[in-house]
Amino acid sequence: MNQENEARINHLLGQMTVDEKIGQLNQYFPRKSLNAGLLRQGLAGSVINASGALSGQGYSGSGNAEGCNHLQQLALEARLKIPLIFGRDVIHGYRTVFPIPLGQAAAFNPELAGQAAAVAAREASADGIKWTFAPMIDIARDPRWGRVAEGSGEDPFLGAQMAAALVRGFQGEELSAQDKLVACAKHFVGYGASEGGRDYDQGEISEPTLRDVYLPPYQAAVQAGVGTLMAAFIDLNGIPATANRHLLTDVLRGEYGFDGFVVSDWDSVKELVNHGIAEDEAHASLLALRAGVEMDMVSGVYLKTLAGSLRDGKISLEEIDEAVRRILRIKLRAGLFERPFTDITRAAREQLTPESRQLARKFARESMVLLKNDSDLLPLSGFGTVLIAGNFVHAGAELYGTWTADGRPEDVTPLDEALRQVAPPDVRLRFAESPDLALSFAQYADAVVLVLGEHPLRSGENANVSDLGLPPGQAELVAAMAALGKPLVLVVFAGRPLAIPRQVAQADAVLYAWHPGIEGAAALGEILFGLEAPSGRLPITFPRATGQVPVYYNQKNSGRPLSVDGEFRTRYVDLPTAPLFPFGYGLTYTRFRYDHLRLSAETLRGQLEISADLTNTGTRPGRELAQLYIRDLVGSLTRPVRELKDYQYVTLDPGETRRVRFKINEEQLAFTRADGTRGVEPGQFQVWIAPDSASGLPGEFRL
Ligand code: GLC
Repeated sequence: MNQENEARINHLLGQMTVDEKIGQLNQYFPRKSLNAGLLRQGLAGSVINASGALSGQGYSGSGNAEGCNHLQQLALEARLKIPLIFGRDVIHGYRTVFPIPLGQAAAFNPELAGQAAAVAAREASADGIKWTFAPMIDIARDPRWGRVAEGSGEDPFLGAQMAAALVRGFQGEELSAQDKLVACAKHFVGYGASEGGRDYDQGEISEPTLRDVYLPPYQAAVQAGVGTLMAAFIDLNGIPATANRHLLTDVLRGEYGFDGFVVSDWDSVKELVNHGIAEDEAHASLLALRAGVEMDMVSGVYLKTLAGSLRDGKISLEEIDEAVRRILRIKLRAGLFERPFTDITRAAREQLTPESRQLARKFARESMVLLKNDSDLLPLSGFGTVLIAGNFVHAGAELYGTWTADGRPEDVTPLDEALRQVAPPDVRLRFAESPDLALSFAQYADAVVLVLGEHPLRSGENANVSDLGLPPGQAELVAAMAALGKPLVLVVFAGRPLAIPRQVAQADAVLYAWHPGIEGAAALGEILFGLEAPSGRLPITFPRATGQVPVYYNQKNSGRPLSVDGEFRTRYVDLPTAPLFPFGYGLTYTRFRYDHLRLSAETLRGQLEISADLTNTGTRPGRELAQLYIRDLVGSLTRPVRELKDYQYVTLDPGETRRVRFKINEEQLAFTRADGTRGVEPGQFQVWIAPDSASGLPGEFRL
């Protein structure tokens, strides 16, 4: 903790009136409640969407910095000149839009995600923003949920790595630098377990599962120095996350040592009344503030009720001061007192640079996952005429995905044009968006690439689906096209795993592109025509059917697992039990073989090395993601059948063999035990070095 800053905070608190203190606890939405008077009286702590297309302040496009400077000027006319902090959802890019976070996770490259977050921070801060409501780090096991697009998938190990990398990317080493953003880990906690995959709903998570699955990314974010968190909408185990003192204070601050502040999610303080946990808005404000929500995002109930509650002795000035202290601490760390204004010349120089586009293209390439490639159809070669058809054939801004308010349609090269630019000169491309035209043109094509999938509006907030199949009409096109018997590639654009077993069977090759961002179409072309090879792996399990959800790799074994003979086993009568594709799965343009697993000892004392030979048995160079899984065979609580503990990409030339080495230590085997404590339990462990969570070379060791 910076003692100089703390002294400055104490000095300010000593000068602030009660109204000024309560004003700091409020974030305003410009078109809803903000006015110059509030600002000049020092009654505003933050403004959301003061810049960008939503500002409504007459500043759009590159004028965002002017818009924020204008509001900041008004705030600094107040008695104590406490600067505003400008917040916005900068989730996976600003002007340079990167793949959606679920696609970023598929690259299994947290360092690259951190680089992309740093670009987003540079671009957004040039427009006056200093606080992003990202990273979204909710573990998600239900693809019906629209927000699965915004997170890093189902695994706590990968999720924690991505959380830390994104926080460091947004915040940098020096948060007060002008090109950095205060990050906001969200939505604390367990929002991915919202029942039915429905936003704003309820969820039940046991304490052990909360601690071993949903909390690790948040602990990683706090350890990475995240400045803020956002409380979730979810009614978790009967206590809405916005009013959950055990989680927001005992765990987050008491155990993790978090010293920043928590903001509500939109009206979530006010909504405690709807949840039926608060009698009225004054009660809602007391519950939220006491739980540990320092700032009220746009609901206005803190402003409306806290002064009265203070007068009535329902809350103490010390409790209000502690909330103000945390907000001022982050504003000081962010350098806002020293640099409240934005250099308005930065945007033109620092946004959408060639380098950031190249990074976006690299990320898009690494995010795409090859799910099927029969007869090595991909990369396409030797086909004179290739038909590109489907609802994404002219896609432009649709490639951005959800939460991209500042990505501009004019900045993205439409898919057909991008493919023309990348395709080899001897390939004749034809394009058709309508199914009829596509089926007609296909007669004259040597190969067909269907580019289908979800419009971005089908993912993100409040975009939940009850059916994980392709959007209406698309399955029919795949079937009709497959019936023509031409070599058929299916490229799927989506913000979630889709249950597409029939379409996978009908196509010769399937490439999952998520929503790949501003350079996604060019990246797709590079992969389709072999300029680059796909290397992404699934960060989330793909179900065979909606009815199979929830299905995820790190499940428990049950008393009647399929691995044990017998008729009465955990399964469906109308569906194979295995998912369509397992966590960690992905192909590339060559093949790999794993051999000779070795452990440095039979018993783990301190550390153990696990290694195996990896050979490229194909004809092309390739990148393989070797994954390390363990299984704790017996525990005081039942244990997952697999847990990812490490991974590494290995690039090998054809015929090349390399020994892949992992190290594992005792701490990595710790879990929340039956008595509620975290630690290890002696016993037998299985271990795999594997290409995905459903296969690999097995080994055993004891602890
Ligand atoms: C929404 C989202 C949250 C977002 C906030 C501000 O309700 O749940 O993720 O950051 O509002 O836009």
